[in-house]
Parts: sequence; structure tokens; C-alpha cells
Amino acid sequence: MNEHDSERMKGMLESLGYTETAEQQDAGLILFNTCSIREKADSRFISYLQLAASYKRRDPEIVIGVGGCWAQSVKEDVFRRFPFVDVAFGPGQVHKLAEFLTSESLTAQGFFEFEGFTGHLPEKRARSFQSWVQISVGCNMKCSYCIVPSTRGRQVDRPLDELVAEVRAQVAEGVREVTLLGQNVNAYGREMRAGAGRGSFAQLLHELDAIDGLDRIRYTSPHPQDMKEDVVLAHAELDSVCPHMHLPLQSGSSRILKAMRRTYNRERFLDRVALIREHNPDIALTTDVIVGFPGETEEDFAETLEVCEAVGFDGAFTFIYSPRRETEAAELVADFVGHEVSVERMDRLVEVIQRRAGEQARRFVGRTLDVLVEGSSRTDAARLRGRIGHGKVVNFSGLAEPGEIVPVAITSATSQTLAGEMSLLARALT
Ligand code: 5AD
Ligand code: SF4
Repeated sequence: MNEHDSERMKGMLESLGYTETAEQQDAGLILFNTCSIREKADSRFISYLQLAASYKRRDPEIVIGVGGCWAQSVKEDVFRRFPFVDVAFGPGQVHKLAEFLTSESLTAQGFFEFEGFTGHLPEKRARSFQSWVQISVGCNMKCSYCIVPSTRGRQVDRPLDELVAEVRAQVAEGVREVTLLGQNVNAYGREMRAGAGRGSFAQLLHELDAIDGLDRIRYTSPHPQDMKEDVVLAHAELDSVCPHMHLPLQSGSSRILKAMRRTYNRERFLDRVALIREHNPDIALTTDVIVGFPGETEEDFAETLEVCEAVGFDGAFTFIYSPRRETEAAELVADFVGHEVSVERMDRLVEVIQRRAGEQARRFVGRTLDVLVEGSSRTDAARLRGRIGHGKVVNFSGLAEPGEIVPVAITSATSQTLAGEMSLLARALT
């Protein structure tokens, strides 16, 4: 979501006539789009902000802006702590940046209402054939570790017809793959008032699938609580909905899930996985896991390992619990799990995740799969890099342009990436 917002900020600045400088210190405007999901992002940002301040000491004309979730979480305090900041705004107020930059204002200003969709602003895509589409902002869940509900507010959805029109326009410009974005995408439509723009997430998938020229639909992230049969069936029935689902587990212990206020338990999660696989036997499943949540015992953690072992995810993002200001879990100081214990658990978790992901990846070897070419391989410029529908990166030999979808025979697999060769015969037949 943060990356999407950055693309929109860039798009908005370009529409105001700004261009990017090659060197940071040559910029007349230095803008930070901050993330607050874990503490590490915060601390890294503060050191960059200090660097920007040093440029401004040399050239007081430089404008420094701070947007995003960190700004939202500290609000006006930002001007007290960092008096060199000229403008600050939360994720719902990005459009106000344009107002500030085009006004004659000399005083520092802050904008922190939950008001707009960054998805309404001009975009600047990193790749012309892939786009993000923000379907909703905010989140109505109350996960006890999570800062998002306080930085992005309650969930507000964009009307279905508006989203379909936006994707249609993107496809006309050459987009082949969209990633639908929301904090809880499968709760889409639930809180909308009846009317023309109303629809469920599954309906949205159906309508987008009907757009000619759109090859791939991805989305992130759904909540296991709201993963119902209609969305599961959409994966099975709709060609453009990718055979990949990112379904955040967070913990395999029902006791910890309850303390996290995740609203499902271990059995319910496993039951969702069974339903998904019943209709989509080949689907790739990835997840998010937090270790060291306050009060997590060795037994709780062992249950997380068990679930990861049993599901066999195709990949996972793993995080050490990070206390966030004004969240319920951050109050449980007496139950904090020490850093050393968390690191040790993380190592054991990563071992299970990688081993199972490696085992899963072997099912692709020997198959010829469509790959959306993204560019050249990061490790060998003579080879190409792209993704299969399941989301796995493939490095392969062949000749193709970024944005093309080509058949690739998969020859080997590791837990992270696949390798292969472009299949010329298959290509000639397509
Ligand atoms: N500490 C650690 N991980 C967190 N996440 C969200 N909040 C925290 C936190 N306080 C993780 C969750 C979520 C992902 C986006 O970030 O796993 O799914
Ligand atoms: Fe945070 Fe939970 Fe909402 Fe995800 S569902 S954004 S983890 S509160």
C-alpha cells in the first residue's frame, strides 16, 4: 500500500511539473512517504530525515515534506520534534500536498483527516504493464499488534463501477497485470450503501476478469475470517485470477490468535486452506507470520511450526513482533518475549518455511508455464526474469521484451526462485 501511495505521490508531483533529481542534495523538494508497520521502518526514516535537515541547513529554500503512516501517528508533534519540516500529511491527505505546494504558504502545515483515496491521484507506474489498484483504504479489524487502523482509519471502499472503469483505462494503456490493494480486500463491499457502485469482492473479480486484454489479477491481502467460497471459486473459474493467494496466518496457536484478536483459530485457518485447495489443488499459498508476540510460549510457537509444516506454504514473510504505539498488545510489557528468544524462534521458523517452500517449488519442474517478463535477471544480465501466475520468480534464458507473456520450461527450483528456458516451440504455437 505504501509503495502504491508513493507511485501516486510521484504522479501528482509530475502533474505539477516536478521532475526527479539524480542526486538527493540537488532537490528543491524532499518528500518522505513513511511506513509505521514495524519499528525498524521508523528508525531508518529518522536517520534519512536528519540527512535531509543537513541539506536544508546549507540551502534553507529546500522544502521538506513527510507523508504516510508515521506522519499520521505523530501528527502535529512532527513540527515540534523536527522544526525543519514544512509540510506533513497522513495517508488520507496526500492530495493536500498539491494544495500546499501551489500556495504561497510560508508556515508549516499538517493535514491529518481520513478523507481521500490516493487511488484517485495521477499514477506513475514503475512498469507500464503492471499496476496497483487501491480498492479500499483503512481497516475495521482490531488486531492487537497493528497500528494500521489508527493510521489509515476505518475501511472505506471505492465503488465497483469506478474500479472497473479505472482498470479498463489502464488496460487500454497497456497494463496486463493488476494487483488489487486493501488492508482486508475480501471485506470489500460489506459496508457500502446499496446502490450502483455496490458489489462484493468476488463480484469485483468477476467484472475485472471480463475485461479484454487483462491477463492477470492479483490481490493483497485477504483476511482468513472473510475467505468464503465465492472468492475461492473465483480462483478456480476465472482465467485471469492468478493461482496464488497470500493468506496471513500470523500464529498457529489458537491462544495467541485470540490475544492477537485475529477472529479465527488454528482449526478455522486449516479449514480455509483445505477449502482453497479442494477447489484449486495447484494454487500457491503464501503467508505472514509474527514470532514473539507478547506471552508466546514455546508450546505456542511449536504450534506455529506445526501449522507451517502441515500447510506447506510456497513462501512467507516472517516478522519479529514489534510493539507499536497506542496498540493493545504494546501494553502487555510484562509478557514481552526477549529479543534473543524471538531471534532463535525466527531462525527455526525460517528453516521450516524455506524447506517446505523448496519442496513445494519442485512441483513446477518439468512443466511449461506462462511467465510475465519483468526485465533482465538480477544475477545474470544475459538471462531474463519474470513471474509465473503462482507468483514465483523465474530466471530464464530466451529472448523477449518486458511486458510479454512467454512460455518457459521450468528446469530447476529453490525455495525462492525457479530457473528455466523459454520454450520456442510452445511460443510458436501460441
Ligand atoms: N509487529 C510485527 N509484525 C507486524 N505486522 C503488522 N504489525 C506488526 C507488528 N506490530 C506484520 C503482520 C502483517 C504484515 C503486513 O506485517 O504479519 O500481516
Ligand atoms: Fe492490521 Fe489486522 Fe487490519 Fe491487517 S487486518 S491491517 S493486521 S488490523
